Parts: sequence; C-alpha cells; structure tokens
Amino acid sequence: MKAILATSILMLAMIFPFASAQVAIIPKPVKMVEMPGRFIVDNKTVIYLDNADSSVKLVLDDFSALIKTPLGFETKYARKLPSSNFIRIIPDLTILNDEAYILKVSTEKVEISASSAAGVFYAMQTLKQIMPSDIEGKTLSTRNWEIPCVEIEDSPRFEYRGFMLDVARHFQPVDVIKRFIDLLAFYKINHLHLHLTDDQGWRIEIKKYPELQKISAWRKESMVGHSEDKPRIYDGIRHGGYYTQDQLKEIVRYAGERFITIVPEIEMPGHSTAALAAYPDLTCFPKKFEVTPDYGVFEDVYCTKESTFKFLEDVLSEVVEIFPGKLIHIGGDECPKTRWKVCPQCQQRIQTENLKDENELQSYFIKRIQKFLNSKGRNIIGWDEIMEGGLAPGASVMYWRTWLGDDHITDIVRAGCKIVMTPLDPLYFNLYENKERLISPLAYPGLIPLEKVYEYNPIPAKLSVNDAENIIGIQANLWSEYVNSMESAEYMSFPRACALSEVAWSPAVSRDYGDFIRRLKTNSKHLEVMKVNFSKYFLE
Ligand code: ACM
Ligand code: ZN
Repeated sequence: MKAILATSILMLAMIFPFASAQVAIIPKPVKMVEMPGRFIVDNKTVIYLDNADSSVKLVLDDFSALIKTPLGFETKYARKLPSSNFIRIIPDLTILNDEAYILKVSTEKVEISASSAAGVFYAMQTLKQIMPSDIEGKTLSTRNWEIPCVEIEDSPRFEYRGFMLDVARHFQPVDVIKRFIDLLAFYKINHLHLHLTDDQGWRIEIKKYPELQKISAWRKESMVGHSEDKPRIYDGIRHGGYYTQDQLKEIVRYAGERFITIVPEIEMPGHSTAALAAYPDLTCFPKKFEVTPDYGVFEDVYCTKESTFKFLEDVLSEVVEIFPGKLIHIGGDECPKTRWKVCPQCQQRIQTENLKDENELQSYFIKRIQKFLNSKGRNIIGWDEIMEGGLAPGASVMYWRTWLGDDHITDIVRAGCKIVMTPLDPLYFNLYENKERLISPLAYPGLIPLEKVYEYNPIPAKLSVNDAENIIGIQANLWSEYVNSMESAEYMSFPRACALSEVAWSPAVSRDYGDFIRRLKTNSKHLEVMKVNFSKYFLE
C-alpha cells in the first residue's frame, strides 16, 4: 500500500511540476508532492471520523476550537460521509509508527490516515502550516481559507525530539510554559525537559519539605551583566517562585494533549545550593547557605549519608506522582568532589561499599537513585557525567560535553544505555545566535548560528549501524542565567528550534539549508501571527 502511494505520488509529480509558495512545512516531510488546485475551507466544510477512538476525537475537537475564531465559523462533524467538502480521518493500522501520517489534500477533500492520535495530531500541525498564517490568529480573519493540494507521507527520524527550559535560574509562569508547549508541538517536538532545581532556585512544590517553598524558591537578587564582569553587578530585586503540584499536573495534562512528554529534572548530587539553603544538613559540612544569585559550579553538594538519600527519595516519590513519563532526569553534571574527599561520612561510604574513589562514589549515588526510581517503574536520564565511575545499565544519557568528542558514545551504548544528543555546540540555545550582539539580549559568550544547528549530524560517522540505534534523539537546551523573560526565551529559541525540529524529524538526506531558509521565510509568518519574538537575522 505504501509502495503504491509512493509510485502514484511520483507519477503526479512528473505530471504536475508545481510548487506553491504557501507550502513551506517545517520539519520537512519525508515525501511530498504538490499539485495544482486548492481545497477551500468554508462554513459547509465538515469533519468525518471513521470509527475514531476518543483520543483522535479530542485532537479534532482541539483543532476545531483553535481555528474557530479566525475562521468565524465552526467545522462540524458529519454523521455520514458527504460527497465532497470534508476533512476525513482514516484509522490505518498498517502505518507502523505511532507518529506517522499520510495527508492528502485535493480540491474535494482532505484525508488523513494514521494509526494513532499522535499521527493525526502531527497531520493537523502540517495542515495548519499550509493554511494561511492567519489561522494562528486570535481574531476573526476574512481571508479565503485555501489549502494547496498536496500528498504527504511523513514519519519522524528520531523518537526523542526535545527542548529544555531552565526554569531554575529564572522562573517562568505557567502560561509561558504552555505557550512554549504550543510552539514546540507546532514543530513536532515531543519532549519538554524542565530543569526544576539548581543553585539559584527550587521550583517544584514538595509537600513533605515546606522549606523548599519558603526558602529554596527565592533568592534575594539576580546578577545583571555577564558573570565574568568584575565586579559582578546585582539588581537588588528578590526573584523566585515555584510551581504547585496542581500547576505541574496541569502542565503535564496540557503537554499530553499536544503529544509532549514532560521530563522533570531534579539535580543531584551537585547544583544543590538552593535545597541546602533550606536544609543545610543534607551536605557534608552544614553551615548557613543562601540561594545564590551567582552562576557557576559550587563545591557544597549533597552528602552521600543516609539522611540525604532519605530526603531525595521522599522528593522523588512526590515527583513520580506528578509526572507520568517514563524518564526522570536526575542531573548528575558538574559535581565537585572537594567536600566528599574530606567528609568522614563520604569516606566511610567509600570504605563500606568497597569503592575506588570519589568518582565511584558518584556512580554509587546515581545507581542508588536509579534503583529507587526503577522500583517506581521509572528510568533515569542524566547528563553525561553519570558515566564517570561506571555507568548504570538501563540509564539514558544526555551527551552535552562537546569537548569529549564522540569517543565515549560507543562505550555508553555498549554499556546498555540510550543517548540523547544535546551537545553544547550546537544545541545550547543560550549562546548567541547572531553576530549583531548589540541587538541580541545578553547571552552566554559564544556563537551558535542557525545554519550550525541545521547542519548538525547527531550520528557520529564512526558509529556502527547497530550502535547508532541507541541514539534515540536530540535536544536543545535553553539555560536561563541570562534569559529572564518570555521575549528573551523566544528570541533565543526561534528560529533555531525550527532547525532543531528538522534535524530531529526529517531524513538526513533531505537536508538543504537554502531550501530550509526559503521555507522558513514563509513558515515564520505563522510565528508572526502568534506574536513570537523570533530572531529575524535569517532574513538579512
Ligand atoms: C550542563 O550544561 N551543565 C549540563
Ligand atoms: Zn559527605
């Protein structure tokens, strides 16, 4: 059936060598043929579902609700299949990938085939992208709702297509997160990693430890300017906030409706100053700590004594009740061993557990937390430092330290671990996007232009085909030391997230930067209607 479709698409392409400026889909579909003609959505257009289950119906309900205002009318459901002017959803279990879909637009009808609600959802994102950009508007538009005729067969390259928001360095309200979810879903990104705890703030309500809300969620001021500035300058303005468990559940629900899984991160054993400000006994040498306005790596970290594990297991027990996704991120990066080296309790642990050194102690730490989370039916994911001192089979690794090269990748996959590639260069979107720094907001030093993101190849050339299967996807990270508003987050993220989505979704062979920019020029009109503060540097 797929072969027949591919052949007929090819024949049509030969008969109608036709390209419309409006068809500018990001990420680029696997196969697409444009044809002459238009389907017009008007107030007689109906939706017809062939035996759809309730999750497919929900996708369509959401789609109709979203487009109702700009259209000025509601697309109703038909009980019987009309002869024309309909959007039809056809369940097709021969489509093996849950996220895949086939979309056929002719002058008479729009037909979407998929085996699951996720596939239907992605077909609707594609459909929106080829509709006039006013479809994203929050007001009535009087334009003609034309959809160019196309036949598309589409499925993702990687199962994990991620984006990380650091809400610890700067807190972002729930509505900002929801807006990000909408934008990511529009580009078929399916994981949102929330960095919820760090030295500069603790953002998740933990009912058993109320001081985390009272103390760890707040800092007395923030740094203004670069952390390298001498002297460092602070704004004197108290900053903070946290998400209640109900708010986080609402974010999970909202993301789930858009086929995005939330990956929560609770950092350990390092980057723990905010927690220590409330509970200093969790570290090796308790003293008074404050939630720090400074950026960097701090030496006071969680101790490996029993009471610290008790705290972390209590915290994680609440975390798994909020976030249903399989992966729980436990950080693991940038943990200095200075205190552990001189702490009697950590040294005692090294003795009793027969460990070689503090690196193995870190590995013990991670494996113990992994065992706990496995007992709750979850898997851990951590930054690539979790491989130091011995990797725990079954863990997933976020590979971020570009300077390590690709050498460790084979070791990681051969240890029975999956990898999400998230290299600092080119997937840290907190670095500048363009050379015109003066028009950028303040950012990390360093330049990651759009083209570099677009040209990124997540599969190192020397990896065998078998080993490469363990690279399950890619993720961009937006660390927020210098990102303190939604405008700034959007500017740093877009359009680089569009390039990310294409690397994550589209076949590597189809990548062509010139073609991407041509599509982006049209596609970004949707971002304009959504009032996204995206960087316009690609237009220059
Ligand atoms: C990291 O950038 N420290 C994961
Ligand atoms: Zn200790």
